[in-house]
Amino acid sequence: MCGIVGYTGPREAYPIIIKGLKRLEYRGYDSTGVALQNGQGVKVYKKKGRVAELEDAIVGKDLHAHVGIGHTRWATHGEPSDRNAHPHQSSSGKLAMIHNGIIENYSQLKNELISKGYVFHSDTDTEVLLNFIEEIKKNNNCSLEEAIRIALKRVVGAYVILLVDADDPNTIIAARKGSPLVIGVGKGEHFLGSDASPMLEYTKEVVYVNDYEMAIVKPDELILKNLGNEKITPYIQKLDLELAAIEKGGYDHFMLKEIFEQPQTVYDCLRGRLDPVAGTITMSGIQQYADQIVKASRIVMVACGTSWHAGLAAEYIFEELCRINVEVEYASEFRYRNPVINKGDIIIAISQSGETADTLVAIETAKAKGAIILGVVNVVGSSIARASHGGAYTHAGPEIGVASTKAFTGQLAVLTMIALKIAYIKGSISNDRYMHLLNELNEIPEKLAWVLNHADHIKKLAEKYKDARDFLYLGRGYNFPVALEGALKLKEISYIHAEGYPAAEMKHGPIALVDETLPVVFIATKDAYHEKLISNMQEIKARKGRVISVITEGDEMAKSLSEDVMIVPETDEIVAPMLSVVPLQLLAYYIGVAKGQDVDKPRNLAKSVTVE
Ligand code: G6P
Repeated sequence: MCGIVGYTGPREAYPIIIKGLKRLEYRGYDSTGVALQNGQGVKVYKKKGRVAELEDAIVGKDLHAHVGIGHTRWATHGEPSDRNAHPHQSSSGKLAMIHNGIIENYSQLKNELISKGYVFHSDTDTEVLLNFIEEIKKNNNCSLEEAIRIALKRVVGAYVILLVDADDPNTIIAARKGSPLVIGVGKGEHFLGSDASPMLEYTKEVVYVNDYEMAIVKPDELILKNLGNEKITPYIQKLDLELAAIEKGGYDHFMLKEIFEQPQTVYDCLRGRLDPVAGTITMSGIQQYADQIVKASRIVMVACGTSWHAGLAAEYIFEELCRINVEVEYASEFRYRNPVINKGDIIIAISQSGETADTLVAIETAKAKGAIILGVVNVVGSSIARASHGGAYTHAGPEIGVASTKAFTGQLAVLTMIALKIAYIKGSISNDRYMHLLNELNEIPEKLAWVLNHADHIKKLAEKYKDARDFLYLGRGYNFPVALEGALKLKEISYIHAEGYPAAEMKHGPIALVDETLPVVFIATKDAYHEKLISNMQEIKARKGRVISVITEGDEMAKSLSEDVMIVPETDEIVAPMLSVVPLQLLAYYIGVAKGQDVDKPRNLAKSVTVE
């Protein structure tokens, strides 16, 4: 979490930094700040609130500078406030620093510094690290670069830091461990960012900085070193990303744009991989490990949030098609539990951002124990993608709305393809079923477009139900993870309390909540459990709950039991979640908007959770 931007070159730094911060607000939006270096010292402007609020507050100030750094914060140490906003300045006032991550041993370092007379002006771990660096520089009479190197060897935690120094007007020094850092290489200029979005209109050439690396960045020079002070040749990659992909393109919100992009993003995900005529699935990052996957005695899905829900859906799909035991783990629990991992176990890490700290550490732990790590990741070149042995990208394009939508359907598409490929190689699926499922998967983009054509109906339902205090989402089998995801979407962006439950399990607790005010959303598409689900609907109806259902087109039975329905086209149960989740994304979106919430940036959340 937290977004960082930096610029050094001949252009005015401030507009580049502000525009870049706006693109990174998905990473946090509690407070904003910039440090501008104009050769006559470092000026810091910062404020609680969003980037636009800082912009308004500093109109008329001297913002002229060719070097600068900026930060948008998701608070960890210290409440969101002006004083805790980044950049922080060192005791001498000469250094300014921004930080994304957590310094775990900050309190020990702080006590050392307090005993040396340092006074702190914020509650942050960042100010501690900055003064620690300054103290080392002073004590050792060394360069800032050297002081940072020494300091980072003492630091426990995760960070990307960017520093400017009043005594070195053209340079930004950056270092990374555990949080993302991209450097854009221009002609006589360099850009820094948590991702590549701040630099898109200026350069397509980028360097992804690795953990334990430092960058000394000047307008016409980029020096990359490890913490042992050895130079590393920067590996410049070409960005395959257009500006339009990170703009709203006429939609009111990124979330709505991303929901509506799904026919295209799922199509992009399948394209070049799935051939329903030849009966092939081409995925080179999976093919390499196909033998090991086929022989594996278990697969562990590791993820957080919405990606975890995709992992849960994949458990049903893999077990059914591949007959391999699958476990689904919250990355944060898995990494701390001393899990049993055997050599040859397959870990599938699922992540939109590819930067989620818990997922990243979980796979590193498993890798060290001999597991094979496959990443199902959206952001190309991200840390999880790079830490994985193999895997497949979801190709959903940049997802900016904090609530994940198109990444989820992309994850389901990739995971289904992997399961089908492995099942085919293993011989655990009949040829007819395999060909049938390839065709069903291939038709999903078209069917998604059909679902989206009915968005106006869902908007009306949103108006009707927006004042409910609680919602219950129920599903069985493949649609149980969809129930969880529907509930998560609603609570994330409308702040209505919502719970997802296995439909039958609701008898063991949530049924006590049911009365005539409670909307109960059934994910009731036609599948092997349909009759059982109809019985669950009857149980809710008998207690006067308000039944809303996602049903398959033409299902008169489910319709007759529901107060309202959201319809999806018929498909195979294995691929049904890719369709049945979409009405729930729309319902959450429209309720959030009807309640006046900031759906793209819900309170307290961040899109990329790079702290544990
Ligand atoms: C945050 C986001 C969620 C996301 C989760 C996992 O909580 O708000 O939308 O599902 O992190 O993120 P990842 O990038 O690993 O999929």
